Amino acid sequence: MDHVINPYTPGAGTPPLVLAGRDDILRSADTALKRVQTGRSGRSQMLLGLRGVGKTVLLNNIFNKAEDANYFTIKIEAPENGDFAQRCLPELKRILLRLSTQEKLRRQLDLAGAALRNFASIFKLSYEGFEFGATPHRGLAETGDFETDFSEMMRYVLTAAKAADRNIALFVDEVQYLKPEELAAITVTCHDAAQRSLPFLFFGAGLPQIAKLAGDAKSYAERLYEFPEVGSLSDLAADEALRGPAQREGVEFEDAAVNLILERSRNYPYFLQVWGDHVWKQAGQSPISVRDVRNAEGQLVTHLDENFFRVRFDRCKPVQQKYLRAMAELGPGPHATGEIASTLGCEPSQVSTTRAQLISLGMIWSQRHGETAFTVPLFDEFMKRQMPKLEKHVPRKRK
Ligand SMILES: Nc1ncnc2c1ncn2[C@@H]1O[C@H](COP(=O)(O)OP(=O)(O)OP(=O)(O)O)[C@@H](O)[C@H]1O
Ligand SMILES: [Mg+2]
Repeated sequence: MDHVINPYTPGAGTPPLVLAGRDDILRSADTALKRVQTGRSGRSQMLLGLRGVGKTVLLNNIFNKAEDANYFTIKIEAPENGDFAQRCLPELKRILLRLSTQEKLRRQLDLAGAALRNFASIFKLSYEGFEFGATPHRGLAETGDFETDFSEMMRYVLTAAKAADRNIALFVDEVQYLKPEELAAITVTCHDAAQRSLPFLFFGAGLPQIAKLAGDAKSYAERLYEFPEVGSLSDLAADEALRGPAQREGVEFEDAAVNLILERSRNYPYFLQVWGDHVWKQAGQSPISVRDVRNAEGQLVTHLDENFFRVRFDRCKPVQQKYLRAMAELGPGPHATGEIASTLGCEPSQVSTTRAQLISLGMIWSQRHGETAFTVPLFDEFMKRQMPKLEKHVPRKRK
């Protein structure tokens, strides 16, 4: 079929033509935005899900809603080893500058400007000030405790925004890369804003372990945030995600072809897009048939292995790869951590460092104590293709 009009969108954060099966999440984000707009409290959200389920796409969709609703928005992708606060400062300054035309806000802007300047100075961040906050205000956001100072700085910016009848929404993608104190600082900001009726919402997205990270950072996090799970799609939504884009180009699928793709992709959004894309290229005419799907399969598996799975596999050391292979032996998961160790032929304590390293690499995660799961869907099948033979753990000899 014509490649120029191929309607599928495999990628990272690439908006699909049909955003299927996420109406509930979008509705509750919409409600939170509207509540804050009308002076009520709204619940911030942490979108949780494995790689490729559509978190970034959703976050961007909510971001657009917030912009349409005239929110001041800040969007940050948490850098893997970077500094969240350094990225926030220019965004906050931009908001203050936008408010600076309003003479009646002079006092609030002065305080907020001073808070930004003090915060930057105490945490040695680069910051170019402006007319507001030029006169020193000692004691604002400069205790040296990150969480206290960040939330205090936010309080002054939010107070200025509120005086101008404006709201602020902060969007952070890849939340699992934030440092614990950064996640705690955001949580305290949400808490503080709720208590003081300040117009603030936070929308985060990341791997499922962030629910626990947020709870570890602040025990009240679970009452403060909604944690919508972004997972594989229902059959109905997956069907829509696959057929919808093609129908816009007047192309249909045979039912059996759709069923086969849903089965192979396990209804995961990214895999559905890759399947749609490959089958489109393969098929000669409408309707797309089971034969087209089968013909596309070989190339598609190679494509996924090389582009999606192997980049992650290559980041791991051989001992870590062996651990992943043992998990794959047990199936998609989650698995009892002890059982993985037995599969490797050793005690859990002998591989606990490897497990911890894989967690920090974002390859695996643990929802419950004693359990381990992949963060990438279908990774078990890839591991078996990549390392057909299961190898036992060989303890390193002490020198
Ligand atoms: N609801 C949906 N319906 C159809 N396709 C979708 C949907 N959500 C996402 N996609 C497609 O899935 C792919 C992955 O989306 P996205 O990059 O948002 O995932 P992600 O969860 O952010 O992944 P990662 O954790 O790797 O950042 C994209 O190609 C996107 O077009
Ligand atoms: Mg993403």
